[in-house]
Amino acid sequence: MNRIFSGVQPTGNLHLGNYLGAIKNWVSLQKDFECIFCIVDLHAITIKQDPKELENNTLEVTAAYLASGIDPEKTIIFNQSAVSAHTELTWLLSCFTPIGWLNRMTQFKEKAGKKKDNAVLGLYSYPVLMASDILLFHTHIVPVGADQKQHVELARDIALRFNSLYDSDLIVPEPVIPAVGARVMGLDNPLVKMSKTYSNVRGHAIGLLDEDKEIDRSIKRAVTDSGNEIRFSDAIESAGVNNLLSIYRVITQKTEIEIESEFANARGYGDLKKRVSEVIIEELNPIKDKYNRLMSDVGELDRLLSSGAQKAEEISRARL
Ligand code: AQP
Repeated sequence: MNRIFSGVQPTGNLHLGNYLGAIKNWVSLQKDFECIFCIVDLHAITIKQDPKELENNTLEVTAAYLASGIDPEKTIIFNQSAVSAHTELTWLLSCFTPIGWLNRMTQFKEKAGKKKDNAVLGLYSYPVLMASDILLFHTHIVPVGADQKQHVELARDIALRFNSLYDSDLIVPEPVIPAVGARVMGLDNPLVKMSKTYSNVRGHAIGLLDEDKEIDRSIKRAVTDSGNEIRFSDAIESAGVNNLLSIYRVITQKTEIEIESEFANARGYGDLKKRVSEVIIEELNPIKDKYNRLMSDVGELDRLLSSGAQKAEEISRARL
């Protein structure tokens, strides 16, 4: 059976983009693939973290995985720092990954900002750690949001180079980007992706655990445009409406034509926002309930992570 590997950083405030672009897809992939879903805490520390908060965020992501429908009976769930093969392989792969390849990574440029020389080495070499995560587990498929595609492509290049240099058989992984929901945009600014980094900016994101009222308020406030036509469009000026329609599409699983005809007689964007808010609330409510139950027994979450780490350790140690 082909294997899938993916992960989320425990950097707090999981949002609708993380859920629709990544976790929701993982849940459906579980029935056809052998899956490994990691909480990538070593990636999280490329930005300064408070140790206690990081520990708590790790448990929260674990609970969010389970509450969304990741099944620990079928799937391995563990936190990256519990398996040292990740960092060991990173060093080996770093020794023959050209710096020029890393210089092309757009996420580093965005996250390092103008003061590149002050950025830490780990933020720069993060994609090599991600390649190690993937290659350690004989991964065939890496389901990610569109922002991570370039990093998976680097993992492919590293595997191909390794195979040609050492006559080796590393599996060359394929990124799988969802057809809809791969890039959920900020509600306050539909030209930037919804991101944990801006989750404290009012009206930017829908948190996975937001109260119904908050969700409603954020959607009501979402940027649209001065028109009133409810249609899918790639035009920059329609980015806000397109974002709301795409969220609606990925949650309801309806086609573009079905959705456009559903809103053909709508009286402006108010009707669209009302429906979008309703379907988000319906989708997230059972997740929130289950999440709260799981977080009331963190001992159980810890046990689950250690059992996952043991299985991940066995596979990755042999590979290393
Ligand atoms: N806006 C998004 N739309 C669709 N998918 C998204 N993902 C992230 N944002 C969106 C996907 O979520 C998974 C986990 O992401 P991550 O935690 O590894 O970090 P990230 O990609 O850097 O996400 P954030 O929320 O923007 O975090 P910060 O602000 O901490 O950098 C990945 O599959 C990602 O593609």
